[in-house]
Amino acid sequence: MKDIINFLKVRRSVTAKNMVSSFVNDNDLNSILSCGIRAPDHGALTPWLLTVIRDEARYRIGNEILATEFKLNNPEASKEEIDYERNRLTRASVVISVLSKPVSHPKIPLWEMELSSGAVCENLLIAAQSLGYAAQWLTEWYSYNEAMIREIGGDPKTDKIAGFIYIGDKEKLPIERRRPMKEKVINYLNK
Ligand SMILES: Cc1cc2nc3c(=O)[nH]c(=O)nc-3n(C[C@H](O)[C@H](O)[C@H](O)COP(=O)(O)O)c2cc1C
Repeated sequence: MKDIINFLKVRRSVTAKNMVSSFVNDNDLNSILSCGIRAPDHGALTPWLLTVIRDEARYRIGNEILATEFKLNNPEASKEEIDYERNRLTRASVVISVLSKPVSHPKIPLWEMELSSGAVCENLLIAAQSLGYAAQWLTEWYSYNEAMIREIGGDPKTDKIAGFIYIGDKEKLPIERRRPMKEKVINYLNK
């Protein structure tokens, strides 16, 4: 247990742009996914859907959605800019999308179902990082794109993308980032 605390105190994301795409072992991927879907979920409603995007799918979605939608929304974009968007998913070996897919429930509010999707993302991130992979939680512009929501099984009217967990390898260790001062973000109520 001490190992978990020590890991959580120092873990860091490696940005997708500093990642190298290589290989995620199937056992590792299964462990990461198992940890992801063990996220806290009020009422066990599983109000989310995970999609593993790997191999050729990274290129197909890059062509069919990232490049196409970017061009549609940015008609003035240069070929270099469009190619940059096209290749976003290939920065990683595997990308796992987490779609918030709320259900209708008489007592459990929508907010709690959406929070649970965030917990899935965090579990996936921590699991991947704990296995030594470079990982980052990203939304970027395409999380808010309707074609992308449909691609991963969502209905843009009701569902939202909580994030894409990029998983790859790291070439160098990331440096620490600015972290909050405890006294600014934590209050204690003692009576
Ligand atoms: C919901 C969510 C979306 C994010 N989307 C982006 C993004 O689109 N682009 C980006 O540079 N960082 C994004 N981040 C931030 C990084 O993934 C990451 O949190 C940050 O680099 C610090 O990582 P660490 O605390 O794990 O080291 C997002 C974080 C969250 C929680």
